[in-house]
Amino acid sequence: MGHDEEHERFDRDIEAMGIRVKDANLMKVRADVFDEVTLIALYKLVHKKLISVIGGPISTGKEANVFYGEHDGRGIAIKIYRIQTANFKAMTEYLAGDRRFASVRGSRKGIIFAWTKKEYSNLARAHDVGIPVPEPLAFDRNILLMEFLGEGETPYPQLRNAEIEDYGAVYRQILDYVERLYREARLVHADLSEYNILYHEKPYLIDMGQAVTPDHPRAPVFLIRDIKNLNRYFSRYCDVPDEEEVLRAIAGTGHREP
Ligand SMILES: Nc1ncnc2c1ncn2[C@@H]1O[C@H](COP(=O)(O)OP(=O)(O)OP(=O)(O)O)[C@@H](O)[C@H]1O
Ligand SMILES: [Mg+2]
Repeated sequence: MGHDEEHERFDRDIEAMGIRVKDANLMKVRADVFDEVTLIALYKLVHKKLISVIGGPISTGKEANVFYGEHDGRGIAIKIYRIQTANFKAMTEYLAGDRRFASVRGSRKGIIFAWTKKEYSNLARAHDVGIPVPEPLAFDRNILLMEFLGEGETPYPQLRNAEIEDYGAVYRQILDYVERLYREARLVHADLSEYNILYHEKPYLIDMGQAVTPDHPRAPVFLIRDIKNLNRYFSRYCDVPDEEEVLRAIAGTGHREP
């Protein structure tokens, strides 16, 4: 199909679904993100009245695109995992070691659907124990809907761009989240950094597709990596304890034993 034809098809499909598109920029990313599978998922969510408006793109990441949306007048984040993501091999490894998803194998699509469900469950586990994360609202195939963390249509800044008064206090707050995530939600984030924390009055953890349960064979490695990332970032701004000490405080033991 030619470029123009492709765009016309997209416009027709979206219109036929009765989806309200609020932002002209949406059209720029349409062909890359909105393949047939994604349109069906989108349609399902709209049909269930879980999305009333699709707004502009917020972010284009390695594996997913995030759009602003609305539901019942409330802002939502619409995270769409691209079926043609380059990273689906890596996803397989995170899934295989996690008892909840160990039986998932097979097609690219199957892996990505499982990944989407995994991010939903991870956010739900964290949210259930009161850790500040976007509340997960629904998922279908490769689309995850969650609470929008931002003002108007602008997301809260990532930690790396936020104005922080007391770095020591924010560092301790994040360590407290990591500890509760580990002890109460039974999860290791596994991609924690100044990119995957939003900040507005307090830190919020986001991007939890790769988070795994502590029985994942690589959970100890992921946990120490998360701590190293935090220490690397915060050591520029405040004193941080030694990573081994932090690990002991969070996991209760010394080395690799969670
Ligand atoms: N719930 C949300 N509310 C507001 N903004 C969000 C929300 N979720 C994501 N964003 C915005 O989109 C950006 C990317 O989100 P996220 O980190 O989840 O995806 P990603 O890094 O693209 O994922 P991946 O690396 O798995 O492809 C965030 O930095 C943030 O600006
Ligand atoms: Mg991210």
